[in-house]
Amino acid sequence: MADIVIDHLVKTYPGATARATDDVSLTVADGEFLVLVGPSGCGKTTLLRMVAGLESPDGGTIAIAGRDVTDLPARERRLSMVFQSYAIFPHLRVRQNIGFGLTMRKVPKDEVDRRVRDAAAVLELSDYLDRYPAQLSGGQRQRVAVARAIVVDAGVLLMDEPLSNLDALLRLQFRAELKRIVRRVGATTLYVTHDQAEAMSLGDRVAVMRAGRIAQLGPPIEVYDHPTERFVGGFLGAPPMNFVPATVRVNGTGPSLHIGEQVLPAPEHLDPYRDRAVLLGVRAENLEVSTAEQPGWLTARVEVVEPTGASVLLTVRLGEHELKVQAPPTFRVEPDSTVWLRSPAQSLRFYDAETGLVLAGAA
Ligand SMILES: Nc1ncnc2c1ncn2[C@@H]1O[C@H](COP(=O)(O)OP(=O)(O)OP(=O)(O)O)[C@@H](O)[C@H]1O
Ligand SMILES: [Mg+2]
Repeated sequence: MADIVIDHLVKTYPGATARATDDVSLTVADGEFLVLVGPSGCGKTTLLRMVAGLESPDGGTIAIAGRDVTDLPARERRLSMVFQSYAIFPHLRVRQNIGFGLTMRKVPKDEVDRRVRDAAAVLELSDYLDRYPAQLSGGQRQRVAVARAIVVDAGVLLMDEPLSNLDALLRLQFRAELKRIVRRVGATTLYVTHDQAEAMSLGDRVAVMRAGRIAQLGPPIEVYDHPTERFVGGFLGAPPMNFVPATVRVNGTGPSLHIGEQVLPAPEHLDPYRDRAVLLGVRAENLEVSTAEQPGWLTARVEVVEPTGASVLLTVRLGEHELKVQAPPTFRVEPDSTVWLRSPAQSLRFYDAETGLVLAGAA
């Protein structure tokens, strides 16, 4: 059982006023692929480096496979890692770089050769085995670093933005490849990225971090569909979730939602929030749009029309607020025209306008 148990981990860098990680507790299950995602500076690398043993916490503990490693040096933690600044040895050929960890572990030469060849094939490095790192592109070097970590089969794999040096297309291809490779080796993986699409695609679960804390942790679809706070909905997704300020009013027929001059029926569970300012959260793909007048739908004015191929992305203005709407690829509309919008009730989320936290019973 190569699980990773992180318990109440706290770290403040010398001279810093804020904590880099602020009381983080997290368990990565045996064989799980868990992604830490969040904006720059939120503490992802710091957390990973503490698990790796490259940074020591001020408080809290880390256990790997049931063993408390908090005070163990990195080399005794039995894990392999790939970091943002991939360190591969310039004086060794690709073949020796990939096999480095195996050679250090005194694995027989035949087996090193075989495993290096397999890893190189998976990472499309077979033609480069005899080159030196200086003769490779940045992306190829990065793949060497990934191959070297995977080939060791350490049981625990730590990765910090391993795809950041790849161009967009290669990154997309390699993302799927990486998912397949990691599944095959079955390593317990803690993976850091600031790219929300990468997090969604790779993680069995994702932990969205903000200012040193975990804001939300769960399977990608759950976190995407049911953000527990505005920050998470605004971070995950391209475009991010829309948030529209609204006021809850309750009369004889139940609660309704007032958005500027417009009124929508509101779900019963908003009843306790009468006269409160809330944020209505809705994703672009959950808004249905029509160019013909529809009674009871919201009206908005089209500002920008962006065909993306798979869909048409609209920026519309609803009162003072901008919304992104994802329309079908065949949808045709001109800027400045009026459109009508609605969304199924089950796709609407409600947040406290002040705290940004989801309203109880409304996630
Ligand atoms: N060696 C260091 N000394 C002092 N402060 C540091 C050090 N490393 C990181 N920090 C600070 O700690 C906080 C967390 O940094 P960290 O590198 O963990 O963020 P990150 O989430 O990995 O960001 P990014 O996506 O930019 O890599 C930041 O405010 C950063 O400035
Ligand atoms: Mg980082």
